[in-house]
Amino acid sequence: MIDRIVNAAPEPEEPQEVELEITLRPHDFKSYIGQERIKKNIQLAIDAAKKRGEPLDHVLLHGPPGLGKTTMASVIAHEMGAQVRVTSGPAIERPGDLASLLTNLSDGDILFIDEIHRLNRTVEEVLYSAMEDFKLDIMLGKGPSARSLRLDLPKFTIIGATTRTGELAAPLRDRFGMIHRLEFYKPDEIRQIIERAAKILKVKIDKPAATELAQRSRLTPRIANRLLKRVRDYADVNGDGIIDTKLSHQALDLLGIDEMGLDTTDLMLLAAIIENYNGGPVGVETLAAITAEERSTIEDFYEPYLLQIGLLERTPRGRKVTHKTYKHLGKNPPAASQQSSLL
Ligand SMILES: Nc1ncnc2c1ncn2[C@@H]1O[C@H](COP(=O)(O)OP(=O)(O)OP(=O)(O)O)[C@@H](O)[C@H]1O
Ligand SMILES: [Mg+2]
Repeated sequence: MIDRIVNAAPEPEEPQEVELEITLRPHDFKSYIGQERIKKNIQLAIDAAKKRGEPLDHVLLHGPPGLGKTTMASVIAHEMGAQVRVTSGPAIERPGDLASLLTNLSDGDILFIDEIHRLNRTVEEVLYSAMEDFKLDIMLGKGPSARSLRLDLPKFTIIGATTRTGELAAPLRDRFGMIHRLEFYKPDEIRQIIERAAKILKVKIDKPAATELAQRSRLTPRIANRLLKRVRDYADVNGDGIIDTKLSHQALDLLGIDEMGLDTTDLMLLAAIIENYNGGPVGVETLAAITAEERSTIEDFYEPYLLQIGLLERTPRGRKVTHKTYKHLGKNPPAASQQSSLL
């Protein structure tokens, strides 16, 4: 998993890479490419909040990894001219941790909680009233002498991010005024992201090569940036200063990424469903067993893209390959699947 080049998880913390992430990360709505509907909605809410002199309503961003949730949160902070504090669900272990985070905020500040689905229940309950009426209820003491204390909090905004809204408790979800699902990007948007990143990294890439790279980036900005860096490495050694399709083709073949952005693990997974399970349906546990990955890795990293491009299909009884999968793998679909695709 870790060494998959098309892995949408963030890079390990190499200092150099982190710096790169920061420079490649768009900081305002203008440089944030795509997700137009979400940008429009949030921009409107920001303008309205500013006009009223109020903090922005709480925002929940969800969707597969690497699509720009963290980036969107920092863009919102920038556009609001607000200070942002960053934390994550698992980092807030006890209600006291949350209390100290919240009481240290000022009016208008933004608290970004990554992986918000991983908050524990006791912390979550304290967060409810904090988000709703900017009050903090804390219990002092234990047993019969215990009493609760209400503290006034500054008027802050929570931006929560998660890859899995399904795991978010309904009462918590309900306290977000805005809930947005980030979608996979269009190939042309990914191309623009690649061209923007190339400019920042001072890499010369022609349009056909950027288009090809975009096609193999799983419609995901994080992967697009990563592929660009790897192709740049290849070009530095084998090229003459400009990345064209010939060069990008060679580099991507060497990385083992096909024209739909699939790597050997994806192909193995799809082939196994066809060969061993007659095309499916198979449960996600089976997919995990085939690839020797965690169930959550399958759900976060493999499935969303394969579903998006129609190589996998969700059915009540599990995941199935499609007609397109057989075609992509150069296999003959069984008669039954031919029939059902005609219906
Ligand atoms: N709309 C965009 N335009 C340009 N670049 C983008 C965009 N969205 C994301 N990126 C790039 O992709 C990288 C990954 O985005 P980000 O870290 O925001 O994803 P994420 O959704 O928070 O992922 P995770 O679920 O792993 O936390 C960013 O560092 C940024 O360089
Ligand atoms: Mg993130």
